[in-house]
Amino acid sequence: MKSTILTFTSSLLISLAAASPGHNPHFKFQQRCSRLAQTFHPDANTQVLVSQFVPAGTNFTNPDNHPTCQTKPYTITLADMCRLRLKVKTSSTSELEMEAWMPLDWKKKRYLVLGNGGLGGCIAYPDMGFTTWLGFATIAHNNGHLGDTGEPFLNNPGVVEDFAYRAIKTATKTGKKAVKHFYNSSLKKSYYMGCSSGGRQGLKAAQDFPEEFDGIIAGAPANHLNNLMSVSGHYYKINGNPGDASYLSQAQWIAMRDMTLSQCDALDGVVDGVIEEPRGCNPRFEALMCAAGQTWASHGCLTATQVGTARKFFEPFYGTDGNLLMPRFDPGADVSSDVYGGQPPRYGTQWWKYAIFNDPNWDFHTQFNLQMVMDVQALDPFGASTWKDLTKLKQSGHKLLTYHGLQDGVINSENSYRYYEYVSRSMALTSTELDSFYRFFPIPGASHCHSGTGNWYIGATSQVGRVLGATNIPTEEGVLMSMVKWVEQGIAPERIVGRNINAQTGVQSSIKEHCKWPKKNVYLGGDPNAKESWGCQ
Ligand SMILES: *[C@@H]1O[C@H](CO)[C@@H](O)[C@H](O)[C@H]1NC(C)=O
Ligand SMILES: *[C@@H]1O[C@H](CO)[C@@H](O)[C@H](O)[C@H]1NC(C)=O
Repeated sequence: MKSTILTFTSSLLISLAAASPGHNPHFKFQQRCSRLAQTFHPDANTQVLVSQFVPAGTNFTNPDNHPTCQTKPYTITLADMCRLRLKVKTSSTSELEMEAWMPLDWKKKRYLVLGNGGLGGCIAYPDMGFTTWLGFATIAHNNGHLGDTGEPFLNNPGVVEDFAYRAIKTATKTGKKAVKHFYNSSLKKSYYMGCSSGGRQGLKAAQDFPEEFDGIIAGAPANHLNNLMSVSGHYYKINGNPGDASYLSQAQWIAMRDMTLSQCDALDGVVDGVIEEPRGCNPRFEALMCAAGQTWASHGCLTATQVGTARKFFEPFYGTDGNLLMPRFDPGADVSSDVYGGQPPRYGTQWWKYAIFNDPNWDFHTQFNLQMVMDVQALDPFGASTWKDLTKLKQSGHKLLTYHGLQDGVINSENSYRYYEYVSRSMALTSTELDSFYRFFPIPGASHCHSGTGNWYIGATSQVGRVLGATNIPTEEGVLMSMVKWVEQGIAPERIVGRNINAQTGVQSSIKEHCKWPKKNVYLGGDPNAKESWGCQ
């Protein structure tokens, strides 16, 4: 991996040496960019790997496309920019790699750091392309190791520490130095945006180093990380493997979701494939149970044992002390056998093997149990669980916006409600008081970070780089520019515009405004595809 990057680097530097002032209006920008390897030496820990001018429209082939990374293998850049890749030592045994994409047009002097996903390791190049086009000098990093895998954690607590908090903190500080150096100017405002693991990183910053960001956007955050890993093992044990009496195939989970919709979709007044408030839905799972003589093949129904499996996914998970470890999934969530069946959960197993027990032979089937779950919760390496209140954020005067899809079948949205209410109680602040620095938007009809049957597109991480033609969608209404408006003009978001978009074709079917918790999306009557037909109550 590393030698590939270095080869790539030297060939680029050679090709850049050919840039000439001739007909090129941006010669100075290009020259300053290609010289960063000589001029940018912020400290002994930081090394320039690449500095290159990249014109808009370049087919940028991801240099570190580790096989475990699910990002698109290439990104068409949207803005003329300077691309800087750095390696930064974080301890004697750990390092991170990061990219700074610095647009030619940087009039607003905004700085943005993007987050990671899963156990990543992977840089969100498509998102960087989009936010650079929006004018943000954008930073993304590999979170202390390459690839969406936990293997580098093995016997290296430095890599775990990077993952828990240090990589994002270090990349943010180093990125600020790089941007200031390159533009020879201070930056005006600093932002963060991430989803899933990236949402957890955003909450980590909000809890522990809010001074780094004027505005933080944290989507579907993977906080209470240890218990999230544990509940995935709990679900796998319930669902099991193909052939087990307990097991539901992917098609059977979809049938269960459709049955839930048939019972709850109309509760909000509109039958549209979206349950606006899954918390108000308590389906009777037994409605899908076979009568005598019926089978899945003949009638599309489930056995009593399988109905028991489905029911347990929508019940909370408790510890040996009776305390809640993880809330239930939202009824109607897109639970998947690809995630919770057939084999022990990939992220959880890697977390336990490599970060917790330092034992590559650790075996899920013999060693996963509730006492282990309790022990891991107590161990919580480097505070990875990210479950503290927001006292520091409030003191800093900076802002946090969180959102969570209410069809999320990977991280249940109840975890975000639970965090919000925990912060409220812990700081003894009402929702009106929290509004001055912390706002939470549940997004009905949205799955994990991107896609969904409803108005899931909100201009967020892992959406903008994925949706064809995202640049044609008004950018000011998305979560990122809503945060900018809050920070720079003091206009706080009351609602977030969501669009129903087909990511492949770019075709849009409707627009809806999502409400700020504790208000809920309510149908007022009229054309359900018109946003005027919905309100917040
Ligand atoms: C960009 O390059 C990759 C790799 O060479 C190629 O597969 C892809 O089709 C290219 N994309 C476009 C839009 O040209
Ligand atoms: C950076 O900006 C300062 C003040 O605006 C100026 O004096 C200096 O020459 C600039 N340095 C470079 C390398 O452009």
